[in-house]
Amino acid sequence: MIFDPITVCNLDLSNRFVRSATHEFMAEEDGRPTLRLGDLYEELAKNEVGLIITGFSYVLPGGQSIIYQQGIYDDRFIEPYMKITEIVHRYRSKIILQIVHGGRQAAVSEEYPVPIAPSKIKDEVSAVVPREMTEHDILEVIEAFTKAAIRAKKAGFDGVQLHCAHVSF
Ligand SMILES: Cc1cc2nc3c(=O)[nH]c(=O)nc-3n(C[C@H](O)[C@H](O)[C@H](O)COP(=O)(O)O)c2cc1C
Repeated sequence: MIFDPITVCNLDLSNRFVRSATHEFMAEEDGRPTLRLGDLYEELAKNEVGLIITGFSYVLPGGQSIIYQQGIYDDRFIEPYMKITEIVHRYRSKIILQIVHGGRQAAVSEEYPVPIAPSKIKDEVSAVVPREMTEHDILEVIEAFTKAAIRAKKAGFDGVQLHCAHVSF
């Protein structure tokens, strides 16, 4: 059964093997996907993984969580992603871009010293206390997710997956 084709919504998959979203540490420092990342996805496609879900890809520069994470916050990323989806589609695989805003667990930098989150609750991992989002912040993040999904579509992805993790515990 795992080798049988399946249609999920309107996505025709050649089998039921799914590569779960996994951050690869293979993007440039500004989030641009690299050829190395393309090579990895090609390897998965070549070995008949029916559906590849990329590592989490940040939708706003201030929403980056970790170094060498891939981004989708700017139109300049469409072209390099397009090269990757073209390679994957040469095989019988589909590829979905996982999109994210790091929120409370966004990396702190000189440019983005205070992460934003729904509530001002300390992150137990980093001990950073985020700023509570304003209505403006919320609308900005929603719009960034929308724009990221549009870029993903233009880049040839078969869909997007919303990363909604990184809550406080
Ligand atoms: C190194 C590493 C990176 C991961 N990156 C992501 C990610 O970018 N997005 C995500 O939703 N899950 C991520 N995960 C979680 C995996 O997709 C997966 O859900 C988790 O490893 C549990 O899978 P398992 O039950 O098959 O072990 C990551 C896991 C690991 C180990």
